[in-house]
Amino acid sequence: MALISNKEMLRRAHDGHYAVGAFNLNNLEWTEYILRAAQDMKSPVIVEVSEAQIEYMCGYQTVRGMVESMMDYLGITVPVALHLDHGSFEGAKRAIEEGYTSVMFDGSHYRFAENIEKSKQIIELAHARGISVECEVGGIGGTEDGKTSGGELADPEECAAIAALGVDSLAAGIGNIHGKYPADWKGLNFERLAEIQSSTNAIPLVLHGGSGIPADQIKKAVSLGVSKINVNTECGIAFSDALKEYYGKKKEEEPKGYDPRVIMSYGMDAVYRMVCGKIQLFGSRDKA
Ligand code: 13P
Repeated sequence: MALISNKEMLRRAHDGHYAVGAFNLNNLEWTEYILRAAQDMKSPVIVEVSEAQIEYMCGYQTVRGMVESMMDYLGITVPVALHLDHGSFEGAKRAIEEGYTSVMFDGSHYRFAENIEKSKQIIELAHARGISVECEVGGIGGTEDGKTSGGELADPEECAAIAALGVDSLAAGIGNIHGKYPADWKGLNFERLAEIQSSTNAIPLVLHGGSGIPADQIKKAVSLGVSKINVNTECGIAFSDALKEYYGKKKEEEPKGYDPRVIMSYGMDAVYRMVCGKIQLFGSRDKA
């Protein structure tokens, strides 16, 4: 099945009161196990890459070719979108040219007027090719790819102005943070989430920093209009913990225990279980 955009996928999720998981790719194995998990759970899925992840995996075309060839090889039939995560202005234009089916333009660090102007240009370019666009208002807290933001609550009026540009989904700060949540984290701000949903005329909302948010808060956020949830950190932790266990049990000393494929599979099985668990929690199981 060919890659599709996020547009229809997220509209359907919004109407059906569930969210589609967007999982970041780090390498070939990550791609394979996320696709397999989505297929086994009969769920739509978004595979996403930041510019730093694209660079790590040798460029836009390498990533796109890998995802497409793998979908073909594995016989993936569930809907899949290839999405640029936190794209810069130039990065988003590049992803549009390179055939990504969805892009995020993150202009949250610009002054608002500039964010609006740049978002508008990306939306025009992308929509002319049937590619969906996600924009961001209000920084998401934490550090990602070396960029740190303190995190802020998005202004519902600013969200309304971006939504009016015709963007397909909106990432808005509601107290969410990339990476691990600190022990004194106050939780998601549902009041602000509801205000944003109402000011934007019910645009599908994107929850970044989806790792480590308690299940009840995830479910409530989805019931209030969150339709896409980004998860990266928890997959990395699952992988790393599994490898700690592998070496803790001295499995590398077993016959073929040193084989990179055996070691990787041990870690990737944990990532597969994590992705399946998130799909179940987000409610997108059997929605393909
Ligand atoms: P986490 O790494 O906190 O799961 O966040 C992922 C994300 O939001 C990617 O944009």
